[in-house]
Amino acid sequence: MILVTGGAGFIGANFVLDWLAQSDEPVLNLDKLTYAGNLENLASLQGDARHVFVQGDIGDAALVAQLLEQHQPRAVLNFAAESHVDRSIHGPEDFIQTNVVGTMRLLQSVRAYWQGLAEAPRAAFRFLHVSTDEVYGSLAPAEAAFTEIHKLEPNSPYSASKAASDHLVRAWHHTYGLPVLTTNCSNNYGPLHFPEKLIPLLIVNALAGKPLPVYGDGLQVRDWLYVKDHCSAIRRVLEAGRVGEIYNVGGWNEKPNIEIVHTVCALLDELRPNGDGTHYKTQINYVQDRPGHDRRYAIDASKIERELGWKPAETFETGIRKTVQWYLANPDWVAHVQSGAYREWVQTQYSGHETP
Ligand code: NAD
Ligand code: DAU
Repeated sequence: MILVTGGAGFIGANFVLDWLAQSDEPVLNLDKLTYAGNLENLASLQGDARHVFVQGDIGDAALVAQLLEQHQPRAVLNFAAESHVDRSIHGPEDFIQTNVVGTMRLLQSVRAYWQGLAEAPRAAFRFLHVSTDEVYGSLAPAEAAFTEIHKLEPNSPYSASKAASDHLVRAWHHTYGLPVLTTNCSNNYGPLHFPEKLIPLLIVNALAGKPLPVYGDGLQVRDWLYVKDHCSAIRRVLEAGRVGEIYNVGGWNEKPNIEIVHTVCALLDELRPNGDGTHYKTQINYVQDRPGHDRRYAIDASKIERELGWKPAETFETGIRKTVQWYLANPDWVAHVQSGAYREWVQTQYSGHETP
């Protein structure tokens, strides 16, 4: 089996669902269930013996050691993190605790397990660390996109904590020989995205008749990748990536934020028109900028294409349409996430640590 950490969050849950849709190899899912972790994301796996969920912290060395010993995974994929830049600005502590200390403890636990494996499983074992393009810092408008050898210049507490974790992963390979792989991906969007991030926030606020907050001048640029494409890239890197290597993952799809806002508004005008004929873009509201806001990210994803043959399957046009359609079709998911009712659902469904 494989061990996935953070598999109840946005990308982790999409990864687990996609993995089990394509493979019968079981998944051990270790997630602390912070505010961002939601077992409702995995409701379709209820009763599926291939999915074993454990509520716990990647920094709990005793728990992780026991799980590794008991389940003997062939790989560990580390999605677990505090992931929201704005929250890191208000309170960096949790980011250091999980993204830095937690990753270090996870590496230590995995190293001890890996060193105790027999020769063949030891050679085949992989630790895949899921990271972000934000570790590279911010680009000027005409600068070339980030390659894997771009220097790390993180600017927010979040990106600094992720850059620290990337360094730790690198060091555990160089010092101890742990067979690691690192992926640095651009902005994801798609189903199950927690509505504190730009795209889902726009959709839920628009439908609720609330303002659509645009930071600063709205001309900050991000590269956007449909989450299922990120999942396929991770599967490919796990399968064929060269040990110790970094692979950038992106959608070749740079867009200023304000263009994203207009695209979402136009799709909602088409798919869920306001009864009074008004357009959603009238809800756009420019607000104070994020402190230290990175101006531009751009990913050069040619290495993963050249070496591993991976390319995104979705264009932004197809991916964003699917995303808006998913939110329109899942108002209960949105309501539960917003009300916190999903936590009660977790209590009702899973009174102990483990399921099924
Ligand atoms: P998310 O915030 O939606 O989910 C994070 C998950 O990790 C949650 O389920 C949470 O409960 C869990 N978690 C947090 N702390 C934990 C701990 N100490 N132990 C165990 N579980 C813990 O995040 P996401 O957007 O799904 O991001 C997943 C990973 O991908 C992160 O490492 C993030 O840095 C990286 N990433 C995200 C994006 C993006 O656009 N969202 C892009 C590139 C990389
Ligand atoms: O680049 C990858 C990163 O993408 C991941 O590592 C992070 O985990 C993920 O959260 C995301 O970070 P961003 O800060 O780019 O995502 P966010 O959705 O918070 O913001 C996207 C852009 O939109 C950013 O320029 C800030 C802006 N924004 C965001 C919000 C929430 C707004 O203008 N208004 C908003 O209300």
